[in-house]
Amino acid sequence: MEIYTYPTVDVMNDAVVKAVTQKATAAIEHHHAFHLALAGGSTPKSIYELMAREPYCSNLPWDKMHFYFGDERCVPADHTDSNYRMARQALLSKVPVPESNVHPIVVDLQDVAASAKRYEDELKSHLPRNDSVSVFDLVLLGIGDDGHTASLFPGTPILKETAKWVDAVYVEKFDAWRISLTYPIINAAANVFVIAAGSGKSDILKNVIVGERKESGDFQYPVQGIQPAGDLVWYLDRAAAASLPA
Ligand code: 6PG
Repeated sequence: MEIYTYPTVDVMNDAVVKAVTQKATAAIEHHHAFHLALAGGSTPKSIYELMAREPYCSNLPWDKMHFYFGDERCVPADHTDSNYRMARQALLSKVPVPESNVHPIVVDLQDVAASAKRYEDELKSHLPRNDSVSVFDLVLLGIGDDGHTASLFPGTPILKETAKWVDAVYVEKFDAWRISLTYPIINAAANVFVIAAGSGKSDILKNVIVGERKESGDFQYPVQGIQPAGDLVWYLDRAAAASLPA
């Protein structure tokens, strides 16, 4: 696990986009495509907007990039809470990525379980396979102040899911359903970036990174269960890293 800290969120975002570009170049050299799962929430929005601007936009191989989502809120695609809507507005509508390379989590509000299954089938039909599991080249994740990531929330059954790659999860504190990637497919990824910015994340980052870690399989915070086969890199700004040892 590598942790990189930057003086400001702008400097952090620049580093993240440069790293995404490097991973894309390497993946395309290896298997002629780059399969990237986007994080939701507010932190990554400025990163996506940066990717859509020069000099990065012309340096990214959009026609060989495939965009997926780490999780989605069970709301209409044009709802202000939709992760797909945020990514489309910040990035996907501004760059020459083929429509067929964008793989949103299509939510049927009447049957969230079927929506999760449908997305798992979408992943199986598009992602390269490594043995029995499909593999993302890169998964971008955020972290909530309760230690959740994607929609892997504390105390929810999805944390114990070991077979499905996508599942529906009811989040009591929001009284809302979500659809999320599960540990098996996130941890099969070649690379995972966890991105956090702002002083509001300093306490949880200290507890997650410095705090005690329970035995494997029984984590105090869901994000601690992110232990990918590939590389795990944390990108933090100074405010988020304020409680970590220097
Ligand atoms: C979501 C994300 C979620 C997010 C964290 C951090 O759909 O909200 O998947 O895991 O990354 O809640 O959110 P912020 O970036 O808004 O702090």
